[in-house]
Amino acid sequence: MTRVAPRDANESFHHNEPARAQLGGSLAFSREAAMALAQFLEQLDTLAAEATAAMQAANDNEALEAARVEFLGAKAGRLKAAQKQMGAIDKADKPTAGKQFNQVKQQVQAALEQAQQRLAAASTAQCTTAQFDPTLPGKRIRLGKLHPITQTIEELMDIMGRLGFSVADGPEIEDEWHNFEALNIPLEHPARDPLDNFYLATAEQAAGDDAPQMLLRSQTSTVQIRVMENTPPPVRIISLGRVYRPDTADATHYPMFHQIEGLMVDTRVTLADLKSVLRLFATSYLGSDVHVRFRPSFFPFTEPSVEADFHWDDQWVEFGGAGMVDPNVLRAVGYDPEQVTGFAFGLGVERLCMRRHGITDIREFYKNDVRFLQQF
Ligand code: PHE
Repeated sequence: MTRVAPRDANESFHHNEPARAQLGGSLAFSREAAMALAQFLEQLDTLAAEATAAMQAANDNEALEAARVEFLGAKAGRLKAAQKQMGAIDKADKPTAGKQFNQVKQQVQAALEQAQQRLAAASTAQCTTAQFDPTLPGKRIRLGKLHPITQTIEELMDIMGRLGFSVADGPEIEDEWHNFEALNIPLEHPARDPLDNFYLATAEQAAGDDAPQMLLRSQTSTVQIRVMENTPPPVRIISLGRVYRPDTADATHYPMFHQIEGLMVDTRVTLADLKSVLRLFATSYLGSDVHVRFRPSFFPFTEPSVEADFHWDDQWVEFGGAGMVDPNVLRAVGYDPEQVTGFAFGLGVERLCMRRHGITDIREFYKNDVRFLQQF
């Protein structure tokens, strides 16, 4: 059987395969085999060139996939077909043929990878230029937030800061001097009742008799004393923080809540100043024309004392106590009541926040239910 040299690399593989299978081990065969090797190598070269060109020409993923299937397809790919041809090559030539085949295969695979990278880069570039529209609304990512009471505190500090009040701080664990005595609340006063306060049994007390009785402060008025003890007049401060009272929790009570305390001491401070400051404060926080009403009241540390009500949204609401600093308090901190006067007020922070946001149950603040907290 005579072999006809193929015109075309592809044809040769198809046409020669059955022919080669019939060849015997003659001299003629080795000559044929040598020719077959040269042919095989030539065809491999052509295959490599065509495959690389096809991969480079592919300008989308579909075209590239078609090229991959044509050349590297596991069943009917053209490289697979070439591999099958190797069976018919003379044994002595097989290593050369195999080596060349592997090289070509690697070369084609590299061309494929290069083309894949080229298309991927092009598609990202397209996303950032053509497909990315910065004017479209973004996807919202839920971030953590400050607690509504913390938000309220920050806002109140801001408002009072604009009125010239700076922020002072004091401890939540207090002694009886700052929580009661200096505030003109003597030992026999009912406000000191153990049932109305969180008295603490401290390690210091257990160790010795003269350790002071401590308690969780029941009001932020303690900070008035601490500030006046440490600064000469004039004083213009606010203090915001937690206070504790053994109340059973219900819609309007909680054993821990927050107060904003205000104190202004100077020569000639009057009740009219108190009213102006509270009105400005209420208007700034509640954001409308708020009226302030004073009702006569009593606190041991102010004289006269008032309950401050805010009129807002067609309703009078009590926000806390206020008054002119009692001369006994001024004396307790070493001020001269003949020289200076002052006003003080203490308002509930939760109450302000509840009023502003229409919250009807104080317990909501401390349940830590994110569905509630996320609204602020
Ligand atoms: N400390 C008072 C209370 O807790 C409020 C208050 C503060 C009253 C300052 C007068 C002056 O009820």
